[in-house]
Amino acid sequence: MSDKKFTPVKLALEKDKRYAWCTCGHSETNVFCDGSHKKHEKPGSLVFQVEEDKDARICTCKLTSNPPYCDGSHK
Ligand code: FES
Repeated sequence: MSDKKFTPVKLALEKDKRYAWCTCGHSETNVFCDGSHKKHEKPGSLVFQVEEDKDARICTCKLTSNPPYCDGSHK
């Protein structure tokens, strides 16, 4: 990671919708996969769903031990 300060992004997640969380940090949005990992030869995304509509804090620093959710590791 660079010296850029990363903070979580608060999103409203929808029940049963499939999300692909960026694990490599090269995505333009740095939240969801845009395929950039292929160009950088990095591992692919983490696909996840939620069981009910909910607001969540999504990690952008990639240091969380509870992906894709922020666990405070960015501090
Ligand atoms: S943004 Fe908080 S743990 Fe990554």
